[in-house]
Amino acid sequence: MYGPRTAIINQIRVRHPEECWLGEYSIIDDFCYIAVNLHIGDYSHIGSNCSFLGSGSSVDIGDFVNIATGCRFVCAGHDYKYGGLNGPAIPEEYRGHSTVGNIKLRDHVLIGCNSVILPGVFLPEGVAIGALSLVKPGIYRPWTLYAGIPAVEIGPRYAGDILQQAKRLINVNNCNCSDAFQGQPINNNTST
Ligand SMILES: CC(C)(COP(=O)(O)OP(=O)(O)OC[C@H]1O[C@@H](n2cnc3c(N)ncnc32)[C@H](O)[C@@H]1OP(=O)(O)O)[C@@H](O)C(=O)NCCC(=O)NCCS
Repeated sequence: MYGPRTAIINQIRVRHPEECWLGEYSIIDDFCYIAVNLHIGDYSHIGSNCSFLGSGSSVDIGDFVNIATGCRFVCAGHDYKYGGLNGPAIPEEYRGHSTVGNIKLRDHVLIGCNSVILPGVFLPEGVAIGALSLVKPGIYRPWTLYAGIPAVEIGPRYAGDILQQAKRLINVNNCNCSDAFQGQPINNNTST
C-alpha cells in the first residue's frame, strides 16, 4: 500500500495491504485500523484512531478529503433485527445475515471527529459532516454541511476558495516534483 510522493505515519494496522492504495501527498495518521480495501486519492488525510471495518468491502476516498480523528467507517455489520448468531467467533454456517455496503467519498469531503459512516454511504463532492455525526445511506447534496444523529442538513458549504486553492497547490507541486521519487512501503516512519 503505497504511492509516489506519499507520506504515511507509522503505527497503523492494515489487514490487506495488497488491496489498498494511498495517493500522492496523502497521510494516514497513527493507530488507524484498516480491514477494508482502502483507496485514497491525492492530498487526503486520515486522522489518528480511525477504523475501516468490513473485510472484502471497499472504502474509496477522493482527493483533498480530510477525515478527523476517531471516525469509524463500517462497511459490514450484523443484521441487528433478524440476524442469528454473529461475529467472527461463530462458524460461517451458524451465522445470521449481515449488512454489507461499500463507502465512497468524493473530492473535498470533510468528516468531523468521532463520526460513524454506515454501509453504503456515498458522499458527493464537498460534503462536510459535523463532529459526532451518524451518517446513514441516503441522498446527500454536494457542497452541503450535515451534522447530528442521524446527520441532517445544516446549510451550504462554499466551494469557491477551496477549489481555487486546490488548483494552485496542484500547479505548484507539478512544477516542483522530481521524477526520481519512489513510493514508500507502509511501515516507513515519514515525517510530514
Ligand atoms: C458542524 C459545524 C462545522 C457547525 O459549526 P457552525 O457553522 O459554527 O454552526 P453552529 O454551531 O452555529 O450550529 C448550527 C446548527 O447546527 C447544530 N450543530 C452544529 N454542530 C453539530 C454537530 N456536530 N452535531 C449536531 N448538531 C450540530 C447546532 O446545534 C445548530 O443547530 P440550531 O441551529 O438548531 O441551533 C461544527 O459544529 C462541527 O461539528 N465541526 C467539526 C469539528 C471537527 O470535528 N473538526 C475536526 C478537526 S479538523
